[in-house]
Amino acid sequence: MSFPKNFLWGGATAANQCEGAWDVDGKGDSISDHNRAGSRTANTHRAFDLVIDTDKYYYPSHTGIDFYHHYKEDIALFAEMGFKVYRLSIAWTRIFPNGDEETPNEAGLQFYDDVFDELAKYGIEPLVTISHFELPFHLGKNYDGFLDKRSIGFYEKYATTLFERYKDKVKYWLTFNEINFGTMDHGKRINGLFNREYSETEQFQALHNIFLASARAVVAGHKINPEFKIGCMLAYITMYPKTCRPEDVLKTQQANAKFNYFCGDVQVKGKYPYFMKRYFEKNDIQLEVTQEDRELLQEGVVDYYTFSYYMSTCIAEDLDKREDKSGGNLFGGVSNEYLETSDWGWQIDAVGLRYTLNQIYSRYEVPLMVVENGLGAFDEVQEDGSINDDYRIDYFKRHIIEMEKAIDDGVDLIGYTPWGCIDLISAGTGEMSKRYGFIYVDRDDEGNGTLARSKKKSFYWYKQVIESNGKNLSDL
Ligand code: BG6
Repeated sequence: MSFPKNFLWGGATAANQCEGAWDVDGKGDSISDHNRAGSRTANTHRAFDLVIDTDKYYYPSHTGIDFYHHYKEDIALFAEMGFKVYRLSIAWTRIFPNGDEETPNEAGLQFYDDVFDELAKYGIEPLVTISHFELPFHLGKNYDGFLDKRSIGFYEKYATTLFERYKDKVKYWLTFNEINFGTMDHGKRINGLFNREYSETEQFQALHNIFLASARAVVAGHKINPEFKIGCMLAYITMYPKTCRPEDVLKTQQANAKFNYFCGDVQVKGKYPYFMKRYFEKNDIQLEVTQEDRELLQEGVVDYYTFSYYMSTCIAEDLDKREDKSGGNLFGGVSNEYLETSDWGWQIDAVGLRYTLNQIYSRYEVPLMVVENGLGAFDEVQEDGSINDDYRIDYFKRHIIEMEKAIDDGVDLIGYTPWGCIDLISAGTGEMSKRYGFIYVDRDDEGNGTLARSKKKSFYWYKQVIESNGKNLSDL
């Protein structure tokens, strides 16, 4: 078996990393607008300013790659590659600048109408992430983000506004990007907890409220348009035991359950898994969970499961003490001597994608989509302007082969949207030089450059892949 006829090939971006125009047409500041540019090693911990000082610092999300003013040109390039789907996020703060307003900002709504109309011209299906690291800053500052139950209502109102406005233009939705980020103590981008130190109980309470917000959106969305497909989105970090010592295997099972399974279980199965209930009991974490909440979680289960996949890692019993740590997306374990790493230390593991697809599908048996995958790399522009990113082509080729094998294993995989299909700001480091795109954008880490777009070698290669529905992976 190979890729099904209607397989959704495409690419993915997020508003805060590409739109720019951070204060244009009534947009408010999101949590990401407070992140300064970082450095190669500043992953996820880069400077976050409560008060933005643009005279002193550069905030990369403020200009991004200026998709706000280039969307027509960018969408035309996506269409040229043959995209069937384009995953983008809506900036919450374009629609509700502070998050708690009564009425939405019409200019923000109009912008996305224009984007969806442009996509429709080329027959590209939008896949919309409702919240991708873009919580209104005001909700964090004045409500402690999702720790305050009122934020559930604000999110529901925001989601409902989108559903009503775009009910005939958008079918595929995702409620929160990488929701399992909320299980980590630096999960402020998703939960908005940045005013002080928060206890573990508070972090899990905020996450519980996020689950409720997601469930309410699913219920409301299906009422507005029963044709909607509303999914979850997790950062999946595939974990292998460092050795076959039973202690390492057990530790892997535990880490995997908490990071990879917990949130998916709540959103797909509609209830907390037993191992988290025990974790809460053992750690004296007492959450406020009502009977009504439990019913809502059951009712608000998602239609499909999506995830980001960049890498795998190893887990050992003595993980915290180990010196042979690997880098990683949100989570780095112990290094794996069988794998190569990217320039940022992420362990490249194409076979792991087949393994992961089977793991997830055997647990949930709902349609799956890989909505982020790709290689962050330094690209060099040659004198003639060409960019020969064979390393990226090789990365994609290996992952696409494994996806096809997973389909052959029987996994119901419906789409693939490589991350940063056009170069954009790195979420982890704030760099521009960590590039993922098929399309190059002339911009550097300090915000200099013309913003001109150009096609990399991988652009032509991916076009050929889509044209042949995944059959022609040969080098150019
Ligand atoms: C995911 C995020 O964690 O990884 C994206 O959903 C992010 O927003 C991507 O950009 C890659 O991470 P980074 O740090 O290389 O940008």
